[in-house]
Amino acid sequence: MKRVRIGMIGSGTVGSSVLSLLETRRSLFESQGYKTKVLPVLVRDPNKSRENVPLGTQFTNDPDVLEDADIIFETMGGTTRALELVKPHLEDGKILITANKAMLAECWDVLKPFMMNGQVYCEASVMAGTPVLGPLTGTLRSSNTLELHAILSGTCNYILTRMESGATYADALSEAQAKGYAEDPPTLDVSGTDAAHKLCVLARMTVDPDFAWENIQIKGLENLSSQAVLEAVSQGKRVKLVGSIIPDGSTWAAKVRPVLLEGSHPLAQSAASRNAMIFSGDASGTVILQGGGAGGLVTASAMVGDLIDHFSGVTGHQPSPEATKVPTDYQPELFEEL
Ligand code: NAP
Ligand code: HSE
Repeated sequence: MKRVRIGMIGSGTVGSSVLSLLETRRSLFESQGYKTKVLPVLVRDPNKSRENVPLGTQFTNDPDVLEDADIIFETMGGTTRALELVKPHLEDGKILITANKAMLAECWDVLKPFMMNGQVYCEASVMAGTPVLGPLTGTLRSSNTLELHAILSGTCNYILTRMESGATYADALSEAQAKGYAEDPPTLDVSGTDAAHKLCVLARMTVDPDFAWENIQIKGLENLSSQAVLEAVSQGKRVKLVGSIIPDGSTWAAKVRPVLLEGSHPLAQSAASRNAMIFSGDASGTVILQGGGAGGLVTASAMVGDLIDHFSGVTGHQPSPEATKVPTDYQPELFEEL
């Protein structure tokens, strides 16, 4: 039995669920030949009272605790500090399992070599508990991407769903925060930035390993009226925040914006915090994936799934090896933008 020491950064909505799931899946890891031990968890305030973590979990604010780790789980969020904490350990050849799409989108120059090396597992960073990076970097690599459209923000989808039943934008956002779906600050969600971070990760996994964060066009929900949402419902339609990667002349375009969908559209079927993705590939045809897009346990399921993959010998999520040729004779689905 191999002994593996796990270094945890963060014990908030996601981290506390990861700690619990790591505890309940210990016997599964043992069946894979690994005995896991979680080191004291690195947090901001080690004296905070914490519920929903396994009995006996220890906390520290000393980053040196990570020195003893073989594998690092990062559930802290943000860019600069998170990168400072994980980078030396990646340089030491350790494995990183992260849910942090902001860091992946905005610190790409530093992280890309480690991703190419298979050291970084990040299924939870896009669509939380819905496995999309595994299929896109695995089976679906046999296809060239033609177009991809996705609902990527659990918070925005929750807000839109609640507004359809008459809730105000402010009340719906407060509810999403109380459920642990929103980023800190939630402006990251409602501005479309969080969805754009995820779309950027998707673009690098599918069409171009060097897709620039700055090239994503972003429009959020801030200027959307309740009237527009209710009017859509009265016409049998839905307003959704959709991220798309589509051919645009000789380049790939990536954009996040609110759009109007027919009620029967596959992306219109995902309500509340659920997410959905439609991928079209030249060989695969259309593939639709849908599931939990935010929340502690669904996100933990993807992160612990990454650990199980690692123990099974599956490498981390690797970006597209090269840029995919843009199909010039292909007409992607176009939406009515709001
Ligand atoms: P959260 O509830 O705010 O938890 C953040 C944790 O990080 C807290 O335990 C906090 O410590 C710790 N932390 C913050 N700054 C720190 C620092 N400088 N040094 C050490 N620890 C620090 O956030 P979350 O919702 O769990 O999200 C965490 C990450 O998962 C983010 O990258 C987010 O985008 C991603 N994610 C979230 C969801 C979701 O549904 N929430 C889903 C998918 C991905 P204290 O507890 O002491 O404050
Ligand atoms: N704030 C994010 C969302 C969490 O609402 O989708 C999941 O990544």
